[in-house]
Amino acid sequence: MYVCICNAVTDREIRAAHELGADTTDAIADCLGAGTGCGRCREAVSDCLATCQISSASREFEVEAA
Ligand code: FES
Repeated sequence: MYVCICNAVTDREIRAAHELGADTTDAIADCLGAGTGCGRCREAVSDCLATCQISSASREFEVEAA
């Protein structure tokens, strides 16, 4: 799903960038360009990053519990 229409950035690309360490909206803007056009997507990028962080924390918990 496209999160940033101006720069054609998808949630999948944001998740991949997050896996590589881009964990802020500014970092996502720097590496993917999301949010650097009209700026309307910045809240959606932030929401996507929050989901990534929850998923990462959940995976870490599963590893620790195993
Ligand atoms: S929709 Fe992302 S900058 Fe415009």
